Amino acid sequence: MDVPEQLESLAGGSIRWLQQGRTPVGRGPRGILRLGPAAIIAEEEAAKRNTLAAFPALSSLIPPTIMQGTVGDNVVLVEADLGEPDRGQAVPVFPPGTDQSHTAPLGELLSMVAPAGGVNVTPLIRALRRQHAALPFRPRAALIQRALRQPLTVTLSRGWAHGAITPGRLLAGGVCHWRHSGPDRIQQCDHAAVGPFDDPAVALCAVKWGWRFDALHAAEALVALGVIASTTGPITLSVTAHPGLSAADLRTLLGCAPGEVSRAQAAAAHGRARGLSVGGVKITVTTTPPIPPRAVPGFRQPRGRDPRRLFARYHDGIRLDDDARASLTPQRAAEAIAARIPGKTIVDGFCGAGGNAIAFARAGKRVIAIDTRADRLAQARHNAGIYGVADRITFQQGDFFALPTPADTCFLDPPWAAGDALLQRAWDHGRKHYRCGMVKLPRTFEVPTEEPLEVSFTPEGFPAFVMVEWRRSA
Ligand SMILES: C[S@@+](CC[C@H](N)C(=O)[O-])C[C@H]1O[C@@H](n2cnc3c(N)ncnc32)[C@H](O)[C@@H]1O
Repeated sequence: MDVPEQLESLAGGSIRWLQQGRTPVGRGPRGILRLGPAAIIAEEEAAKRNTLAAFPALSSLIPPTIMQGTVGDNVVLVEADLGEPDRGQAVPVFPPGTDQSHTAPLGELLSMVAPAGGVNVTPLIRALRRQHAALPFRPRAALIQRALRQPLTVTLSRGWAHGAITPGRLLAGGVCHWRHSGPDRIQQCDHAAVGPFDDPAVALCAVKWGWRFDALHAAEALVALGVIASTTGPITLSVTAHPGLSAADLRTLLGCAPGEVSRAQAAAAHGRARGLSVGGVKITVTTTPPIPPRAVPGFRQPRGRDPRRLFARYHDGIRLDDDARASLTPQRAAEAIAARIPGKTIVDGFCGAGGNAIAFARAGKRVIAIDTRADRLAQARHNAGIYGVADRITFQQGDFFALPTPADTCFLDPPWAAGDALLQRAWDHGRKHYRCGMVKLPRTFEVPTEEPLEVSFTPEGFPAFVMVEWRRSA
């Protein structure tokens, strides 16, 4: 096969090129093709991993890699296609090598970053006045007008990211934040990350998005840019939670770490914690001085609006009945579990439509997938076929509690609707009969406080479920 044919075979059909140059990007039926010299692709992938580690909530904006190959001298990645953003609303992209410095009044710079167009003071002031209790300054139109006249120097270029960064997605997570931004200017980026907002270099973009969608973030970014002085001091945030939660978990959950935070961060953390329990322990946030909580849009949205969050290859013919869909472990979470579960052979005691079993098999494990229902096993087998791993999984119809224990490790995701008693029974049975294992539990399940918890978050940072692990030495 020649090079174009090899590329088309990876793309699953003909390719429409979106970007040329040293690292071309194209769209094919299977996903977005990204190719370039191995060193450049490796660097980009490392940046992506770092960004994801720092901002787990960003996972919905960064498309997962479906396939990887080598064509000629280039490494080729096929990434999930998150759809094309509306160009008018695209975020700015700063390609490597561009260095166009602009010094201009803030108002003029704001008209150069997406979303297109200038800014109007009246709606921002109105929105700020509604939320004045959480503001770092007193909202006066003259103050904002003066800020818009302040000169600033930044580096800008325009383009768009293939990750479909839309206002809705940014709003769900917070404000935008670009990788590769330096302390005194914005440069080279190809996707947006979400808050907490703590880097003045991206404040310009944060102001622009916030102006339209989230006035408190815009206000905070104006302070970070130094064009408006904060008239209030920092807030101290304290949290009580299940002791098994890690500091990183608390940060993901609240959008900021306990300690000194800005007013906007404290208000949002307060809003996120309202009515939330993890491991059966209520999350309690207190602020000194006390400030009112703020609703965080999107934080409580149910997961899985886009079925590709459940299975990246959903559109290749994945089969799920309604209950299997509702109880499926989304691919990204299933992959994280598969990466840490010990053992070469895993008994998946409640396999459902195969969310976890497929991830285990793709991680190189052998899997014994058990379910009482023949139709669920048929879905799991079919779905495993789409991922090319059906031959690594033995599908077995039966009752997990009644079957023998043919491996050292088990994974348990019993149906939550059956109630906590069944979950507890499955966990007890697993611990008794298997040396190692993990059990997936609803976040409200009362986990003894001495057990460390592994929390799985939705891309919005909402705690979707908890995992508890056990290991006995042989
Ligand atoms: C929550 S779902 C599993 C979802 C799966 N982890 C996934 O990601 O697709 C639970 C499954 O357990 C099955 N089940 C219920 N009781 C069972 C039992 N005693 N033994 C084996 N399977 C059982 C149900 O039919 C259901 O398909």
